[in-house]
Amino acid sequence: MYTKISGTGSTLPENRVTNRDFERLVDTSDEWITTRTGISERRISSGENTSDFAAQAAANALSSAGVGPLDVDLIIAATVSPDSFTPTVSCQVQKALGISRATCFDLWAGCTGFIFALMTADSLIRSGLSGTALVIGAEVLSKLVDWSDRATCVLFGDGAGAVVLSQSASPGILAHYTGSDGTRGNVLRIDGVPLVNPWTPSAHAGTHPSPSHPSSVIRMDGQEVFRFAVTAMQQSIRRVCELSGIELDDVPYVIPHQANDRIIESVAGRMKIPRNRFYTNLDRRGNTSAASIPIALDEMNRAGMLKPEMPLLLVGFGGGLTWGASMVRWMPNFKGNS
Ligand code: ACO
Repeated sequence: MYTKISGTGSTLPENRVTNRDFERLVDTSDEWITTRTGISERRISSGENTSDFAAQAAANALSSAGVGPLDVDLIIAATVSPDSFTPTVSCQVQKALGISRATCFDLWAGCTGFIFALMTADSLIRSGLSGTALVIGAEVLSKLVDWSDRATCVLFGDGAGAVVLSQSASPGILAHYTGSDGTRGNVLRIDGVPLVNPWTPSAHAGTHPSPSHPSSVIRMDGQEVFRFAVTAMQQSIRRVCELSGIELDDVPYVIPHQANDRIIESVAGRMKIPRNRFYTNLDRRGNTSAASIPIALDEMNRAGMLKPEMPLLLVGFGGGLTWGASMVRWMPNFKGNS
C-alpha cells in the first residue's frame, strides 16, 4: 500500500499589506524589506482565525481531490498559531466541514510542521491505520507578531494550505527525511503561558494566578536562523534524494519553505541548482510558516505547472529547531490513476 497526494487547496486573507504600508507602522522602507527578504506584500487577517483559513483550504483540497467529507479518516493540522489550546484546529475543521468519521490532531513543528504532518499521515496510511487523510498547514502569525519590532513584523503573512492524501497502488509519496535540534531552540521562540499557580514562587511573592494570556510574540536571532536554514535545507535536500533514489537533476521543482529569498538563493548557489527550479511566492505571501509549502503547492497545481509522474521536492526548516524534506511523485486523481 502506498500514498499519493490526490488534491490540493489553499486560501489567503483578502487584506493585502504592502511594504509601503509598513513604512507607516515602523522605521523601515520598501527598499530594505525587498532587498533583505524578497517580500513585497503579504496577506494579513482582518478577523479570520487559523481554523477559518484551515477549513477553507481543506474544503478546497477535498473538492480538488473529488473526496467527500465522510471519506476522510484523519485530519492533521500543522500550526504554531491555533485559535486555542483546545479544541484543536483539526477538530474545528472537522466540525466546520462535517468530517465526522475522522481522527483529528494538531502537530507543532514550527515552519517544518507541514513536512512532519505529511510524514505522519503517510505513515499512518501505509501502515493501514488510516485510509484518506487531510493534511493542513494553517497560520495566523499576525497575532504572534510584535508590531513594533521592525526586524520581524515585516516578514510574516497569514493563510492556509492543505492536501488530501489517498491510498495508492503505486508510490506517490516516495521518501521523507526529518531532523530536530532542541539545543538551539532559543534562536527562534514564541513563549507560552507563564507557569503561575498557587505553588510557584511568584504566588508566594503575592502574584495570584492569572487566567490572562501573556503577550506571546515571535522573537528570533535572524542571522543565526539564516545560517541554520541554509545548512538544514542543503542537508534535507541531499538526504531525501538519497532516500528516494531520485537524482536532484531529475527534480523539476523544489518547493521550499518561503522564509526569505536570500536563504533560497544561497542554497541554490551552493548546490548549483538553477534558481528557477525553486518555486517561490514569498514576494506576494511573505512567510506563512507551516502554511507556506502547501500554499505554494496549491498555487503550482492551479497554475497547471505540475505534470503527472513529476517528482517534487518539498523542503522546510523552522523553530524547535526542526527541518525536513519530502519527495513526492505528482499523481493527482486523474483518469487511469489508481
Ligand atoms: N527595516 C529597516 N531596518 C531594519 C529592519 C527593517 N525592517 N529590520 C532590521 N533592520 C536593521 C537593524 O535594526 C539593524 O540596524 P543597526 O545596524 O542599526 O542595528 C540592521 O537593519 C541590520 O540588522 P540585521 O538583523 O543584522 O539584518 P540582516 O541583514 O540579518 O537581515 C533578516 C535581517 C532579514 C531577518 C535576516 O537576518 C534573515 O533573513 N534571517 C533569516 C531569518 C528568517 O527569514 N526568519 C523567518 C522566520 S523563521 C522561519 O521561517 C523558520
